[in-house]
Amino acid sequence: MNASRAISQPAASRRAFLLGGLATAGTMVLAGCSNDPSPAARPIGATPSLTPSAGQRVVSQSLVAKPTTLDLGGVTVDTWAYGDTAPGPLLRAKAGDMLRVTVDNQLPDDTTIHWHGIRLRNVADGVPGQTQDPIKPGTSYTYEFTAPDPGTYFFHPHVGVQLDRGLYAPLIIDDPSEPGRYDAEWVVVLDDWIDGTGTTPDEVFTKLTGGQGGGMDHGSMEGMDHGAMRGMARDGAQPFGDAGDVAYPHYVINGRAPADPDVLRAKPGQRVRMRVINAGSDTIFAVAMGGHQMTVTATDGWPVEPVTTDAFYIGMGERYDVEVTLDDGVFPLVATPVGKKGIARALVRTGPGRAPADDTTPRELSGQVLMGTDLRPAESSRLDPKDPDDQQMLHLSGQMQPYSWAVNGKPFGQNTPISLTRGSRVRLRMMNMTTMTHPMHLHGHTFALPNGLRKDTVLIAPMRSIDVDLDADNPGDWMAHCHNIYHAEAGMMIALNYVK
Ligand code: C2O
Ligand code: CU
Repeated sequence: MNASRAISQPAASRRAFLLGGLATAGTMVLAGCSNDPSPAARPIGATPSLTPSAGQRVVSQSLVAKPTTLDLGGVTVDTWAYGDTAPGPLLRAKAGDMLRVTVDNQLPDDTTIHWHGIRLRNVADGVPGQTQDPIKPGTSYTYEFTAPDPGTYFFHPHVGVQLDRGLYAPLIIDDPSEPGRYDAEWVVVLDDWIDGTGTTPDEVFTKLTGGQGGGMDHGSMEGMDHGAMRGMARDGAQPFGDAGDVAYPHYVINGRAPADPDVLRAKPGQRVRMRVINAGSDTIFAVAMGGHQMTVTATDGWPVEPVTTDAFYIGMGERYDVEVTLDDGVFPLVATPVGKKGIARALVRTGPGRAPADDTTPRELSGQVLMGTDLRPAESSRLDPKDPDDQQMLHLSGQMQPYSWAVNGKPFGQNTPISLTRGSRVRLRMMNMTTMTHPMHLHGHTFALPNGLRKDTVLIAPMRSIDVDLDADNPGDWMAHCHNIYHAEAGMMIALNYVK
């Protein structure tokens, strides 16, 4: 581990680098279809099928991953999506159901699907070269798994930077025993959008990493002095330092840009449950509804002690369930990208009235914004009290120039997998030695924060460290990585393998 990896460029030149890069992106050579996300990829062979247990309900769905043209609301883009919408079709089942999803890959590239947050059997986890062979263009593949835990999830490819196309969709696992104290439910999917606006995510990745040599770390001359301090001081009002690498031209809610937003309807006085999902690749959002407070009831599928707030942060890969009692009128539901310019919004309509201007920022965003890590778990979400049997380190490092991100001193493929022993309680110490915030996500398990909060994706602010505990109760070879898809693809990922 090398402390100099923690130093990144000052914010101003980082941003200029990006905007400059995007302006010339149209002239760049296509990155092509060379996605090889995992240097450690190995052939896997056929996936064993799963037989439903007696009385188990099977929920079947087919998906077509394909190039398509989408109208984002005044913005038309050529992109890749599941069918002809982004987000793709909602997939919904009950806790304990078996899901059987067939993917027809009509993309000009390999793909897979990862069922983000689901504690599923390892062979269905969708990591090419680790749990399955990639799904080749023109072929199809069937995922079969049981979804044990209720909650709000989503799914997306685990190949290259395909998540930053339109390839994502919500996955909701209902709790048959939940009282459901609400009148209506809205699924609210946030995204940062660049694909088909003159560049593609592959081109963005090439631009970020391009021309910098073979990923060697020579540090950054301009950034050598107090990069970390500047990163933290720049946005006094938000706790995340440099929150992202890419200045996106659009931010969307449910696939719609602010000029022609999605309209969410209900009646005045109704209590609505919103399931908010951040499917963005490089953007943390702050979320608020004009004229309303929201009560956060769950995160990443796990109930919390309810907290009422004006606004909350949501990192890439995180989910928050909130409940709102609706007033009479038309209200903006807004997600502002942290540390970036722009706005995502939908409209909440419970009665007649004029829509607010498309750049209206609700007053609710100017006060305290709830940090997910400040939530406390509902009693039902706690792990059984137990001391860890084992402690493992995830040391996060990297910087913008050269664009390189790593776990435990080396990028994925060169770092040493972490070993997990079945049946043990494992403490992961995740140390962020960079000037950026990283949403760290663990496959196949959930973890408990020091206060007991259960999650599968947690934002770790610059130069902060967090200990999370997990029960190693789901054997297989798994991934932990930053859910900034550009960081993950550049190497901020590590395998966690059960000792055989
Ligand atoms: Cu949603 Cu491996 O990630
Ligand atoms: Cu990251």
